Amino acid sequence: MSNNYIEIKEVSKIYNNDFVALQNINLNIKKGEIFALLGPNGAGKSTLINVLCGLTHHSSGTIFIDNLDISQNRKKIKSMIGLVPQELHLESFETVLDNVNYSRGLWGKEKNEKYIFNLLEKLNLDSKKNNLLMQLSGGMKRRVLIAKALSHQPIILFLDEPSAGVDIELRKEMWKIIYNLKKEGVTIILTTHYIEEAEEIADRVAFINDGKIILVEDKKTLLNKLGNNKLVFTFNKLINKIPSFIKEYPHKINKDKNTIEILLSKDKREVSEILLNIKKSNIDYLDFTIKKRSLEGIFVDFIKKKK
Ligand SMILES: Nc1ncnc2c1ncn2[C@@H]1O[C@H](COP(=O)(O)OP(=O)(O)O)[C@@H](O)[C@H]1O
Ligand SMILES: [Mg+2]
Repeated sequence: MSNNYIEIKEVSKIYNNDFVALQNINLNIKKGEIFALLGPNGAGKSTLINVLCGLTHHSSGTIFIDNLDISQNRKKIKSMIGLVPQELHLESFETVLDNVNYSRGLWGKEKNEKYIFNLLEKLNLDSKKNNLLMQLSGGMKRRVLIAKALSHQPIILFLDEPSAGVDIELRKEMWKIIYNLKKEGVTIILTTHYIEEAEEIADRVAFINDGKIILVEDKKTLLNKLGNNKLVFTFNKLINKIPSFIKEYPHKINKDKNTIEILLSKDKREVSEILLNIKKSNIDYLDFTIKKRSLEGIFVDFIKKKK
């Protein structure tokens, strides 16, 4: 027995053409968390999700979900899981309501009108429930995919690139839906290459690149630990000599030699100290800004370091 809800040990996936899409993945996911798998296109995010959902088999390693070995409990595990796939393929003459009911039926679950009606309402689909799927906009189709994934009341929800091709309004609405599901105790794993999305909603983040997990961290810890801010000064002339007080900080001058970036530590007094010194030294600057370090910067740095 283990405390991890989803336990992935040394999992690799080699496709039929010998392409290694996942290499020795080790990852533990806790019950009730929102976990974001972050990585560029081709990193292996969908492959990992498809393996966890039982859509494709892993080549080696072990996966336990709720203490069940996925290799021996595929059917049971599938019934616990909902998947919102990356691709939209809903070009059918069926109505929204029929289609969502049908999805539930596929899982052998008894009809539950009240649950499905509530679900459609939560997803703002109730006014569309009698529309044909093929008549819906892209955003509405995305909602229907979520409704289908939730139709059998899964306790784990996977969302593969939920924000791909989605406008900011719907993205925000989806984040709300995801939060609410978390409140209901659903464990949520999503993939994204939108860093802001992970930054916004995830409890924990894993960076995946070239089929390998390169970092797993609590999002807040990650932003705190590595998320130093930068103080950036822009000048209207070339920087010839760096003032000595700036040399005390890690800093960088840009190619055009008209801005200096100073990497700040966590000490809040630093900014005022630097500004005071700039003033004392009569240094003329055009502008200064504080650049917040984001997950994006951290991710780019990580990929650079690994190469
Ligand atoms: N069925 C397949 N056969 C061979 N290679 C595949 C297959 N599916 C995906 N790949 C390759 O595996 C890598 C990871 O793909 P994928 O998991 O879809 O990445 P992501 O979702 O992070 O963009 C890519 O290089 C992709 O071309
Ligand atoms: Mg993908």
